[in-house]
Amino acid sequence: MPIEPFVELACPLDGEPLDQHDKTWVCPQGHSYDQARQGYVNLLPVQHKRSKDPGDSKAMVAARQRFLATGHYQPVVELIARLCCPSPLPDADFNILDAGCGEGYYLRQFAELAPASMKVRMAGLDISKDAVLAAAKQDKRQSWLVGSNAHLPVQNASLDRLLCVFGFPVANEFARVLKPGGRLIQVDPGPAHLRELREVLYERVDAQTEPKAPQLDGFQLIEEDEVSYSFRLDSGKQIQDLLAMTPHGHRAPKDGKARVAALTALEVTAEIFVRVYEPITDV
Ligand SMILES: C[S@@+](CC[C@H](N)C(=O)[O-])C[C@H]1O[C@@H](n2cnc3c(N)ncnc32)[C@H](O)[C@@H]1O
Ligand SMILES: [Zn+2]
Repeated sequence: MPIEPFVELACPLDGEPLDQHDKTWVCPQGHSYDQARQGYVNLLPVQHKRSKDPGDSKAMVAARQRFLATGHYQPVVELIARLCCPSPLPDADFNILDAGCGEGYYLRQFAELAPASMKVRMAGLDISKDAVLAAAKQDKRQSWLVGSNAHLPVQNASLDRLLCVFGFPVANEFARVLKPGGRLIQVDPGPAHLRELREVLYERVDAQTEPKAPQLDGFQLIEEDEVSYSFRLDSGKQIQDLLAMTPHGHRAPKDGKARVAALTALEVTAEIFVRVYEPITDV
């Protein structure tokens, strides 16, 4: 399948289209952004940063990379791949952005699973430079961008699919960048997700409530899938990687983390909601 970089980029400062001149992207106002040696472009101006190194740390990125490489989230990959393929398949370029792509796992997997006749242009964006660097090192076929979901450096109505996998949706930006008829694929943990890990970490784990699909302004929910299964972590190292890639790695109390550190195996529930939203177009 031809996989090419998505290039309908926009200046993060003024929204004007960016033109590529060799390894530099330039807007009509003269703002310019160089491609790094490793192939990614930093489109996160200092004005849009709330801290020096926003997003996931290098250690979290490495832990997620090792965990995902074990294939424990393969059922989610397959569902996302199905939802990314329209029927009938398009003749024209099909543009996909993964907003909050981490180390690029889902785009790499989609590149393997997508039908051979589909011509896809892909970009992965993350606010964490370490995440984007890890993504760019593993695959050169996509555009890899450091940027924020709050100011996507992407032209209006340029995307067919927008992925937000365990990420942070920004409804108005997401609606701006999708084409009419495009789709947002939002992936979130359900209330039972990683329950066994949380039961070791915390003295009390709240009772499960029936989950409700989040309302996203400007979007209507058109499909909701639940993926539930359990998987086994066979070593203390795998358990530590799972802990390190979740917010519990920071949030959990010391004694809870010590109990997890003593584990050598753990059977864990995966409960993941994959929701498809369509932008509401004015009539
Ligand atoms: C839980 S991780 C999920 C990463 C990836 N989607 C995956 O599932 O492997 C959330 C990601 O969102 C990124 N992130 C946090 N705030 C963001 C923002 N405002 N814009 C873009 N990415 C952001 C983090 O750096 C992190 O890589
Ligand atoms: Zn500009």
